[in-house]
Amino acid sequence: MAGRIPQYFIDQLLDRVDIVDLIDGFVPLKKAGANYKACCPFHGEKSPSFTVSQDKQFYHCFGCGANGTAITFLMEHNHQEFRDAIETLAQQAGMEIPDEATSNKPQVKTKTEDGIDLYKLTEKVSDFFEQQLKNHPEAEAAKQYLKNRGLTGEVAKRFQVGFIPDAWDTLMKEFGGTEKQQAALLQAGLLTKNDDKNRIYDKFRNRIMFPIQDYRGRYVGFGGRVMDDGEPKYLNSPETPIFHKGAELYGFYPARGEIRNQSLAIAVEGYMDVIALAQYDINIAVAALGTALTNTHLQRLFRITPNIVICFDGDRAGRQAAWRAMENALPLLEDGRSIRFLFLPQGDDPDTMVRQHGKETFMRLVNEAMPLTDFLIDTLKEDCDLKTLEGQAKLANTCKPHIQKLPEGVLKTLVMERLGKITNIQAESLNTNVAHSNQTNSNQNTNRSQGNQRQVIHRGNNTPQLSLISRAISLMLQNPKLARTTGDVSVFLNTQLPGYRLFAELVQTVTQNSGLNTASLLERFRENKHVKTLEKLAIHPHNLDENQLANEYQASIEKLRESLNELELDMLINKEQNDGLSQDEKIVLKKLLESTKKR
Ligand code: UTP
Ligand code: MN
Repeated sequence: MAGRIPQYFIDQLLDRVDIVDLIDGFVPLKKAGANYKACCPFHGEKSPSFTVSQDKQFYHCFGCGANGTAITFLMEHNHQEFRDAIETLAQQAGMEIPDEATSNKPQVKTKTEDGIDLYKLTEKVSDFFEQQLKNHPEAEAAKQYLKNRGLTGEVAKRFQVGFIPDAWDTLMKEFGGTEKQQAALLQAGLLTKNDDKNRIYDKFRNRIMFPIQDYRGRYVGFGGRVMDDGEPKYLNSPETPIFHKGAELYGFYPARGEIRNQSLAIAVEGYMDVIALAQYDINIAVAALGTALTNTHLQRLFRITPNIVICFDGDRAGRQAAWRAMENALPLLEDGRSIRFLFLPQGDDPDTMVRQHGKETFMRLVNEAMPLTDFLIDTLKEDCDLKTLEGQAKLANTCKPHIQKLPEGVLKTLVMERLGKITNIQAESLNTNVAHSNQTNSNQNTNRSQGNQRQVIHRGNNTPQLSLISRAISLMLQNPKLARTTGDVSVFLNTQLPGYRLFAELVQTVTQNSGLNTASLLERFRENKHVKTLEKLAIHPHNLDENQLANEYQASIEKLRESLNELELDMLINKEQNDGLSQDEKIVLKKLLESTKKR
């Protein structure tokens, strides 16, 4: 029987799959504010109350109460067992389930069972492709194609551009002499098996080959371009144990030094864009591999520079792609980081732009690129008539959920202030939540009272009120980062009061594991007898922005500590009167009495 699935793997898996993509495959989702919505697949309904949160990687139906993670969804929607659900997701993510018995550490199989190293194999194949471009008799057309597109031999060499001739067995012949070697080529995504599985042949044929290196310079895959109007224009390596499209950036490895030096990275769309820019001495460009820029991509770049300019086509599709990138990027914009957008004229891409106008013009455009927050406000402004109160309120309301995704800091405050100014003409009479958030953000001293005020407003509606401990759990579950601000939890662990121990365990789980989100935290409590309660608390509406949430959390922790102190005080006074106290207990009592006096 298969062993237990290690927790780190479930974390990695939930990190790599996107619940929105997953569910969208079964139930088409529509964007609604910060979330996605659909009619609930678990009960019959006409108006959508099924909600999927990308931030939390969690779904919830306000109609029937169904909720859970990507794993839960497959279990309930497709009636899969826990392990099968994980297997399905792992397959989609190109990951293999490790066995807990064999290892506690993340283990990625980068070698075949026979010990052939997939990275080294891919590198050898890349060298071979380069040789083919130089020497193969059929490579003339490829060389001519590259020349026509303006590539110099120098830059082609720098990017190790190669060629694979028109045959079914080029790599089979060169590298697939034995069954073991064929197995390795298959695992590296270089060979394909046809459907009835008895024929194996080269995946790439008659294409210009661009080798892809990962962030550490290891060779992980290829993009292959046709030289005519054939389809697909680019064929990319499939997901393999060493190649993950959503995580790799073409050109990152050779550009990383310059990106650091210039403190700037340019994200473009295509292989040829990266290469053309490099030919014009702009050595800071990288490209996502035909996918949207993911958070993994952006975080990789932010590790080496605080400034990113993302280049998009100026057409509608480009604007839409920018909007998606913007939504993804908001939570990453800590103070000091910047993301800007450069929209190119319709029909142009960085390749054609730099060839037509040269380095200086291109870099001027890059330097004038539009800050992400301008793009946000400008785009939303288009739909609002700011001459009217309604228009101002609409802008305030549509901006707010996005701005709330920004981490706390100066940028958030500034954007809030700006939004306040734009919608401000009669801000007092607007009297929307944003007016409150604005005050909260522009005046740090009143944070606490603002937080409480919001809480009172919120309690006016018909959501059930939570106990103190449930409230703390709920706030933390919805924003696991908060757990790190809790302080010492040992007093919570040692009390018999219901919920306190569970709360402390949740806090410890977050502090001992980096990067847990709501979904991966809940997954760890799947077997806990209180899991149903936790799921409810994870979606309990608080209607607080991030700042208020943090304040509320701090306030509830303080109250929890106070209430524990009071209980202990009662207990000690009682004991003193009945049995007398030990020396240690007397000291504790004295301290507790002093601290209550101070309050
Ligand atoms: P584009 O279609 O914008 O092409 O795709 P391009 O980069 O300008 O290519 P050239 O200039 O015609 O050679 C942008 C990127 O999307 C991915 C590739 O990574 C490409 O560089 N893509 C595109 C694919 O993976 N497959 C395709 O069929 C097309
Ligand atoms: Mn192009």
